[in-house]
Amino acid sequence: MARGKLITFEGGEGAGKSTQARLLAERLRAEGVGAVLTREPGGSAFAEQVRALILGPSTADRGALAEALLFSAARADHLERTIRPALEAGQWVICDRFSDSTRVYQGVAGGLPKAVIEALERLVVAETAPDVTVVLDLPAADGLARARSRSEPGGPGGRGSDADAFEGRPLSYHERLRDGFLMIATAEPERCVVIDALQPEAEVAQQVWAAIVARGLRQGG
Ligand code: TMP
Repeated sequence: MARGKLITFEGGEGAGKSTQARLLAERLRAEGVGAVLTREPGGSAFAEQVRALILGPSTADRGALAEALLFSAARADHLERTIRPALEAGQWVICDRFSDSTRVYQGVAGGLPKAVIEALERLVVAETAPDVTVVLDLPAADGLARARSRSEPGGPGGRGSDADAFEGRPLSYHERLRDGFLMIATAEPERCVVIDALQPEAEVAQQVWAAIVARGLRQGG
């Protein structure tokens, strides 16, 4: 049985990652490909508990190293219990955020040295690097406006008051995130595709699919 593919979606707040990850999983299933839709932090019982801890209401400040270790602990469990078993069973895994988020949020924007991030990635991700990473790109101010409207009670995304600890950080922080994702995409053009997330949802989905086909992972489309 051929190993499945790991496709990750990355980008700043309000880029539409969750929607696009879901649309890709649905398209794959419609094509007869088994696809597991998952997210980080989260995607396994323990990792979801870590998610609640990291993103839940807290008044305690914390350092980037503590954050990186928590995200990495969640990722280790997610890989062990969800991602690797699915890939080995020939399923595709579509993941809303993955290790590039640690590189960018805790590394580029959080100030952790590259060597620390790389060491964590070697330890936790090891051979399970993404086959394709879709970077959904938009200006930080637009993304934040979308994320905040989604977080308002009655907002379009229906997240209620589920604004997370990161959304409240200043615009300059979110601009560093955008630059960070674009830097990764420039450095790893074979793995990464950058898509303009200001386009209509259906157009973005079409370009995501075209990127998968262009990499020879699916025929047709
Ligand atoms: P979101 O997926 O709803 O955007 O929430 C996840 C938040 O966690 C988001 O603000 C980015 C942040 N995050 C990190 O800082 N590092 C990571 O490694 C991951 C996976 C997420």
